[in-house]
Amino acid sequence: MEPLAQGKTLGILGGGQLGRLIAEAAATLGYRTAALDASAKSPALQIVDIPIIGAVDDPLAALELAEASDLLTLEWELIPVGVLETVAKARPLYPAPSVLAVIQDRLTQKNFLARHGFPQTPYGEATTAAGWKYPVIIKRRTHGYDGKGQCRLESESDAPKAAEVLKAPCVWEKKVDFKAEISVILARGRDGKTAVYPVAENAHRDGVLHATRAPARIPRDVAAKAVALAVKISEALGHVGVMAVEMFLLHDESLLVNEVAPRVHNSGHYTLGGCAVSQFEQHVRAVCGLPLGGTDLLEGQAAMVNLLGGLWDKGEPKWSLLDEIPGVKLHLYGKSDARPGRKMGHYTVVGAAADAEFARADARLEALRG
Ligand SMILES: Nc1ncnc2c1ncn2[C@@H]1O[C@H](COP(=O)(O)OP(=O)(O)OP(=O)(O)O)[C@@H](O)[C@H]1O
Ligand SMILES: [Mg+2]
Repeated sequence: MEPLAQGKTLGILGGGQLGRLIAEAAATLGYRTAALDASAKSPALQIVDIPIIGAVDDPLAALELAEASDLLTLEWELIPVGVLETVAKARPLYPAPSVLAVIQDRLTQKNFLARHGFPQTPYGEATTAAGWKYPVIIKRRTHGYDGKGQCRLESESDAPKAAEVLKAPCVWEKKVDFKAEISVILARGRDGKTAVYPVAENAHRDGVLHATRAPARIPRDVAAKAVALAVKISEALGHVGVMAVEMFLLHDESLLVNEVAPRVHNSGHYTLGGCAVSQFEQHVRAVCGLPLGGTDLLEGQAAMVNLLGGLWDKGEPKWSLLDEIPGVKLHLYGKSDARPGRKMGHYTVVGAAADAEFARADARLEALRG
């Protein structure tokens, strides 16, 4: 199939910040953009050429997006597979519904990874407490994100705490004692070629990504192993587009796969400004059939810090305090309601100040709060 020609419309299923950043990148490549979301105020619908208001799980609304678009992609992996299959009959859709069918359900995803021999922490279906390996994390099989729908249990006596989360089907996972969390962001084109960004190192707070730095502080051979694992996973899935593979680095330097996101990813935001071609542009390139672009860090290092709703507790954060950081750039997603924990924006630091900023991100956020 030919690459999508300039002036054609890329339609995005979902209207969050990831969709907004994909749409901005698509515009720089000469494409028109459309997006579907239930709210006209959603980050992407505010900026696309053709905003379509409707639920992403409504096949008729999704078909309306398809009709307004020449090619489709998505920014959220939990769109029902039936809806994806419907729109894929109307317009080319990347990634394919079959990829999402594997990813959407944690148990299906884990079984897929196990079947292909990828290393994971011991896990199972959490129907009864029998067989759980403590300390354990119980996770909803579907619709969990940012650490939601999860419950951590130190020992068997904690088991009753899981009652609430177990109201929906869950998996159990043995808690991993890790040295670091890393992620590999890669893009895979329609022709199967891949482009991989430098491995990123992530810090989480309460199950939510807090900050990322690249490159990760890991030995070269471990980074190469992580990249090889991620590329193999994208190939096994037949993925097209950007994909993130979250991994745990253990104290013995071995790696376990945590989870796979078949889309642009928060831990790849450092590529905005950090690399010649950001993950968002790379995603557009991959799904539109354009050649993939450069993934090297332009200035050797980059960092990203998330700005969550709680930062607005005392009103607008003191943005002027960011000005002292060389290579800083603020990104806000246009969300009006700063609920605690909601991802409102992020800032990136590119160049020599990045590593130090990653280390002092907590203090910086405290200062910004005023
Ligand atoms: N088995 C585990 N052992 C140790 N820590 C874990 C485990 N599973 C999850 N975590 C911690 O919780 C975080 C969030 O978990 P996970 O990635 O499964 O959730 P999520 O809700 O899909 O989050 P997100 O969408 O932000 O990636 C992980 O990044 C890690 O810090
Ligand atoms: Mg995760």
